[in-house]
Amino acid sequence: MRLLKNKHIVLGITGSIAAYKTVTLASMLTKAGAQVDVVMTESAEKLVAPLTFKSVTGRGAYIDEDLWQGSAHVLHIELGQKNDAFLIAPATANTIAKLAHGLADNLLTVTALASRTPLLVAPAMDGGMYTNPATQANLAALSERGMTIIGPAEGHLASGLAGVGRMVEPEELFGRLRIALSADGPLSGQKVVVTAGGTREPIDPVRVIANRSSGKQGYALAQAALDLGADVTLVSAPTCLSPPLGAELVPVSTAEEMLAAVLHATEDAEVLIMAAAVADFRPANPSGQKIKKAEGVPAIRLEAAPDILGAVAARESPPNRPHLTVGFAAESQHLRKNAQAKLSAKKVDLMVANDITSPGAGFGADTNAVTLLWADGRVEALPLMSKAEVAERVLEVVVDLLEEA
Ligand code: CTP
Repeated sequence: MRLLKNKHIVLGITGSIAAYKTVTLASMLTKAGAQVDVVMTESAEKLVAPLTFKSVTGRGAYIDEDLWQGSAHVLHIELGQKNDAFLIAPATANTIAKLAHGLADNLLTVTALASRTPLLVAPAMDGGMYTNPATQANLAALSERGMTIIGPAEGHLASGLAGVGRMVEPEELFGRLRIALSADGPLSGQKVVVTAGGTREPIDPVRVIANRSSGKQGYALAQAALDLGADVTLVSAPTCLSPPLGAELVPVSTAEEMLAAVLHATEDAEVLIMAAAVADFRPANPSGQKIKKAEGVPAIRLEAAPDILGAVAARESPPNRPHLTVGFAAESQHLRKNAQAKLSAKKVDLMVANDITSPGAGFGADTNAVTLLWADGRVEALPLMSKAEVAERVLEVVVDLLEEA
């Protein structure tokens, strides 16, 4: 993952049972290419062994003893100054209070005080401790100083009670770190609209005409745009996927709804990426009531659904339409020829074409093999790669094209 590759992340762990979940986070970050150093308080050591973290990160898991020993006397300065992001998860009420008052009585708090990057803090504690005015005032003080407070969530607590105080899940912490790291990316301040999924056209209140699109490529594109700092609006037909953290989700179902959402969202957008599989045809007269079997096999007359890219292209030049438009071409034969024809007809700047019959590149797969076609005639055939990697390459080209414009 490009955003996290070789990024230096410091994870601070304090004495809450949620510390075991941070092992998962450390593993996720390491797998994504980050260099993760862990700093634990004495209480955290009682719950999870430093060796557990060392084993998943292949790097240091520092404890208070390291602050005082040998050549490591400037450890806290090194960890504090060299990180790209610093997250304390779980953060107990005690550590939050120390941070609020600038106390530095252990390796974690002294490192936090030395850190040059704004801290992310994920509280985890009993509901009563969380709502206590002292904790609330301490958290408010941290927010005022530019620290990011993540959660806590509501649910089952270690005490056996339910309430607000649970640390948010590792997936959300991962997403929040991504957002923190992408803040100054090349697309920061730019709005990117991405469409995803396959539209559904009603036959009656129960049945629809749908297609095989999973939405995976579109969601990966939204994530890749977020990783470059963009403000992302994800106009999505129904999928089984969770939208990437930080994207504004606009759920739609039909081509007509997607058209309205795209025209609205692109009024102030720099980029439109049309990855959705939009219906070309829809039932001309959908039934208001469920069609009954006893009435015999119905004849369903179809009519053309709106062509969204066509409608965007028909708009006057920017700002009424995006500076840059990316289309997708799903082809089962004559890939380049068909994609080239669509590129000209739909007036896009970049066409991402894929042969849906080639192994690993069809609907629903986690991989894709695409060919990129530029409006100026350039062509680049990418090998089979994950949809996330395809998305990163497409967004890299988007950044280049915006710079060239
Ligand atoms: N598209 C669109 N509106 C439609 C159909 C497609 O905006 N009603 C967009 C898709 O999101 C994609 C591009 O147009 O970016 C090409 O879609 P594709 O289905 O490959 O091509 P079609 O134009 O539908 O042509 P055909 O189905 O004949 O291949």
